[in-house]
Amino acid sequence: MTDHHLSRRSALAGLGGSAVLGALSTTLLAGPDAAAATTSPPTTTPVKDPMGSPPTNKKAEQRVNALLRRMTLAEKLGQLQLVNTGDLARAALAATPCGGVFSVVGAAELNALQKLAVKHTRLGIPLIFGLDVIHGYTTNFPIPLGQASSFDPTVAESDAVVSAAEARRSGINWTYSPMMDVTHEPRWGRIAEGDGEDPYLASQMAVAKVRGYQGADYSAPDKVAACAKHYVAYGGTEGGRDYNTVDVSIQELHNHYLPPFKASVAAGVATLMASFNTVAGVPAHANSYTLRDVLKGSFDFNGFVVSDYTGIQELIMHGVAGDGADAAAAGLTAGVDMEMVSTNYVDFGKQLLAKGRISQREVDDAVRRILRIKFALGLFENPYVDESREVTTVSTAARAKARTAGSRSMVLLKNDKSVLPLKKTSKVAVIGPLAVATYDLNGTWSGLGTGAGTTPPVTVLDGIKANATSVTYAKGCDIESTDVSGFAAAETAAAAADVVVLALGESAAMSGEASARSDIDLPGVQQELLAAVVAAGKPVVVVLFNGRPLTLQSTHDTATAILEAWAPGVEAGNAVADVLFGKVNPGGKLPVSFPRAVGQIPIYYNHQNTGRPADPNNKYTSKYLDLASGPLYAFGFGLSYTSFTISAPRLSSPKMNHRGGHLTVSVDVTNTGKVAGDEVVQVYLHDPVASIAQPVRRLRGFQRVTLHPGQKKTVTFTLTTEDVGFYDNRARFLVETGLIDVYVGNSSDAAAKATFTVV
Ligand code: BGC
Repeated sequence: MTDHHLSRRSALAGLGGSAVLGALSTTLLAGPDAAAATTSPPTTTPVKDPMGSPPTNKKAEQRVNALLRRMTLAEKLGQLQLVNTGDLARAALAATPCGGVFSVVGAAELNALQKLAVKHTRLGIPLIFGLDVIHGYTTNFPIPLGQASSFDPTVAESDAVVSAAEARRSGINWTYSPMMDVTHEPRWGRIAEGDGEDPYLASQMAVAKVRGYQGADYSAPDKVAACAKHYVAYGGTEGGRDYNTVDVSIQELHNHYLPPFKASVAAGVATLMASFNTVAGVPAHANSYTLRDVLKGSFDFNGFVVSDYTGIQELIMHGVAGDGADAAAAGLTAGVDMEMVSTNYVDFGKQLLAKGRISQREVDDAVRRILRIKFALGLFENPYVDESREVTTVSTAARAKARTAGSRSMVLLKNDKSVLPLKKTSKVAVIGPLAVATYDLNGTWSGLGTGAGTTPPVTVLDGIKANATSVTYAKGCDIESTDVSGFAAAETAAAAADVVVLALGESAAMSGEASARSDIDLPGVQQELLAAVVAAGKPVVVVLFNGRPLTLQSTHDTATAILEAWAPGVEAGNAVADVLFGKVNPGGKLPVSFPRAVGQIPIYYNHQNTGRPADPNNKYTSKYLDLASGPLYAFGFGLSYTSFTISAPRLSSPKMNHRGGHLTVSVDVTNTGKVAGDEVVQVYLHDPVASIAQPVRRLRGFQRVTLHPGQKKTVTFTLTTEDVGFYDNRARFLVETGLIDVYVGNSSDAAAKATFTVV
């Protein structure tokens, strides 16, 4: 590496230079004088070679290296290019073969492109075929935020297993999922694509997805390579506006944003995608600290990093590159291996190499990583798929899994007078703009795979009709219009019924990429529709379909019951009906806090305490004059048709050794109600005295259990130094001695507490 690269690297890192680099892979197990550890000079433990991470498969690596030796520079640069149409791929394959194609579907077309690459290029290197298979290829599962609400990683895994099989059989071998951007921003449309506000929950769900997509060996005909995205801190986007600036401290980066990526790399994720945002002034696509030092160095990641869509070109707009050549140099030296859509690597690679602005070693490392994944996918042995096995319709088995995932993802937010579950014999008025919606119930990122766009989800009305003997329907209003002419019919229907099911919320297009909202109330005149229907005097059950937390104060104040259904996917109406009629007892919990008002954002459970925590009786504390403190619904909250008690936590030991110690925390959970149901037992930790301020609570364990009426179960969690430690502002993992509070319960408000000491 030249001096130029070194200076560019530390400048771009902008995060403490060599001090940070030197401390990266360090775990400090601090003794009694823990605070001193954070102020002492960083250790000199060298960072692992950020380009030379060891291959996991020696034989495959020999094949990679043998192939690499035969490649010309043009062929190497070609491998770094990802194009997004068949025409572009054909053009590239006729000149300089590209590395992959994305967003092209259809087994026949993909096989045809593959044949051009394999049979008609000099080296016959197969293409990798990518697609955003985010929550289903043909069969749509709930949106990821919904899946996170299940607090059940097997839900995420079941989506990934079905999606991988459908996609691979149809020619896609690489999915741009899981998205694992932890966020506090409900205005951000992309909150729908991730797991909410907690790094621990996000890590568990992300790892389950990676496992489901890749299995033990993703050369299998029903597995795909996964892509952990967006690396990194994209969820910190200022104001919730997509693509926006993010400026985070080192401790926040490591404690809050990086954990799901670290866990996914440890789980063997094949690829990562860089994020559109800056991190401390350095665009993620040019950030050698996050990419080389952390990811490829400290985390030992040996797959490849793909840019996001034109992310390399956008370095010019970010203002860190003057032109395409600059952008290519910045991206490649920082560690983005493959360029999506824009073409700066292939356009300027040769010139940059000649000028010494990029090194041969950097180019070879990028190519090696891409070839490594192509070999791991088995593409050299099996470049084609059997077109007769392409998946174009939703199978009965996949439907059943989507239905289970849908109902397990729902969260009961209110249930006054136990209006739910509904009786089959009740006269039900189904009202609302989402009552007969179809594709909107799939949410964002759906319909890309074969068959998905021609398989509409089951409507709420149809789901309810299959369960109740007397059902009427009135739309009331559209999702976003101001037209109230349908209110009269809705009121009449409500008055004539025993109970109203009111399907409200957002269209699919209102969340997801480039879909930020400044106002997160129910859109259009839906709130007015709710008021009109409530005025008819019958119990009103609001079922919400939305890709983000909404501000629901007046809905909460007026509706009899509220079921948060998110966007449940292809079996939406059936999954909703399963819950409404009590075939499934809702057991989901919120993976994100629901604010009372937009002005309160960001509001999240794992915040620091401040020197003046909110106190309603003291003006000079951290709060608003015009709003109650805390969220409307807390992280981890969700009701059930039954009731549970959770005992006080019992610890296996009052002490944990700071050097690799562990202990267990156990509680007895009992179903004290009359029907079977699920409870999610949650463990939160708080370190009340640490060298840097700690979150008031941090989720460190959860378990969803099913109990029959009267049944009691002991749930045990193991806590280790991993759980009590944290990263400091030099990216050092510290385990400090002292007290740790443990809270166990069924939400982030859990009150039952125990205490142990790290010694
Ligand atoms: C998104 C990514 C997506 C990519 C490819 C981008 O605009 O940010 O999440 O994977 O497009 O479709």
